[in-house]
Amino acid sequence: MSEAPAEVLFTPVTPVGSIPAGEGRTFEVAGRLVAVFFDGSSYSAIDDLCPHMGASLGSGPMVDGMVTCPWHAWQFRLCDGAWCDNPKLTVDVFETRVVDGTVEVRVPPLRAVEIPGRS
Ligand code: FES
Repeated sequence: MSEAPAEVLFTPVTPVGSIPAGEGRTFEVAGRLVAVFFDGSSYSAIDDLCPHMGASLGSGPMVDGMVTCPWHAWQFRLCDGAWCDNPKLTVDVFETRVVDGTVEVRVPPLRAVEIPGRS
């Protein structure tokens, strides 16, 4: 019998107004680095780690719902985390909300990866 997964709660990360429009900031949430962006009206959150070589996506510029990696200019859509050159490659996307003037993100813990032959 397996246990039901624990509910993933929202975590407050920063006050509303602390991220300028068109920019992102990086926060540690649930042991992960999360890039939170503000487009001037709403917030988005994705995994901060660029899958190319590990740059911080939170420090990249955001234009038209896409963030550009500051190292080699790969672009990712904030709505679904897809790499614009090949949407089969994605970064994780996280829910955001604003509660009482604070931006919150909902970040599940990283999944354990099973490697065959190891226990
Ligand atoms: S590290 Fe992001 S594009 Fe190279």
